[in-house]
Amino acid sequence: MNIVIIGAGVAGLSIGWRLLQAGANVTILERAQPGGGATWASAGMIALAAELETSPPAEVSFAYQSNDLWPSFAAELEEVSGHPIGFARSGALLLGNDGAMLASRATADPALTFLTAEDVRGRWPMLTGEYSGGLWAPNEAHVDNRALGRALTIAFLKAGGSLKPTEAVVNIFDYQGRIVGVSTPYTRYPADAVLLAAGAWSGQVADVPVTPVKGEMIALTPPPGEDFDFAGPVIWGPDVYLVPRGDGEGGGRLLVGATVEEAGFDTALTKGALATLRARAERVIPRLARWKLDEHWAGLRPASPDGLPLLGPWGDKPGLFVASGQYRNGILFAPAIADLMAQMIQGKAEPIAAFDPRRFNKDKTS
Ligand code: GLY
Repeated sequence: MNIVIIGAGVAGLSIGWRLLQAGANVTILERAQPGGGATWASAGMIALAAELETSPPAEVSFAYQSNDLWPSFAAELEEVSGHPIGFARSGALLLGNDGAMLASRATADPALTFLTAEDVRGRWPMLTGEYSGGLWAPNEAHVDNRALGRALTIAFLKAGGSLKPTEAVVNIFDYQGRIVGVSTPYTRYPADAVLLAAGAWSGQVADVPVTPVKGEMIALTPPPGEDFDFAGPVIWGPDVYLVPRGDGEGGGRLLVGATVEEAGFDTALTKGALATLRARAERVIPRLARWKLDEHWAGLRPASPDGLPLLGPWGDKPGLFVASGQYRNGILFAPAIADLMAQMIQGKAEPIAAFDPRRFNKDKTS
């Protein structure tokens, strides 16, 4: 079976890797560089409690399933690629100013423990900022997303995949009623199945309802001699998250994110976002005012109209699949999407109804 995947982000690479393991021939065509889009720009969070609070049950259950897959996915990937990816089950601390709401969430969810402000400061003395309590979520994790992109690229190539960077797909073509390949400015690639996994750019390749949502982020480093636990938890404060990046490349930094803005494909860095992110972070950890700005960047999240991913067949001709619209959860969902989509493309699994891209086909014809 010959598969062409459009997009070498965390989704395209991990699905391609699983398809190679299943015996398929896989070519990935990437408009820029592998792992260089939202995979590179994200904070690498494997976040359940903070980002899924308003999600429907199907998304919550998929998130829990993927979170459970992460430790073995990370171990397998590190072993195959020989490249550490910094997976850390560090837990997350969600700070807030509505103590009653925090306590009721902890009552409703046995995975969460309510902490008073005094409990929080007792455990994490640097958190001297403004909050009235917190939730401790021990099952949350994070991964070095930039290392993840590189490791997946290595694993994909080692498994025999073909990867074509800087080669954008300009057409998906069909013959006798089914999709039979894609073309780029250089050549045609015949395929038994084509998977569109181009993140925020998916809607530019085919008529899928996926649009970019910009996020600006910064990374801070401590002044010389300042003690900070970079193995500590991810911290969520009002409108901000703080991700400690420990060992390895890019270690010893605190990532601060992120803005959420519909700005098309604009990834310009703004002074306003920088000031806002710093101010929000300092409200949680005031001493961050003395930390140095190490990096400021922006990325584009792939968003669908209902906020849920598109995972399954697309269009009126068989042979085209889409894995996109992960929005804020591309890293979290990666292992579950890899397994589900690899199975589906081989005809061994059906889409999950809530994520079936054809829910948007119906809207168009009704
Ligand atoms: N998942 C982090 C973000 O979307 O900002």
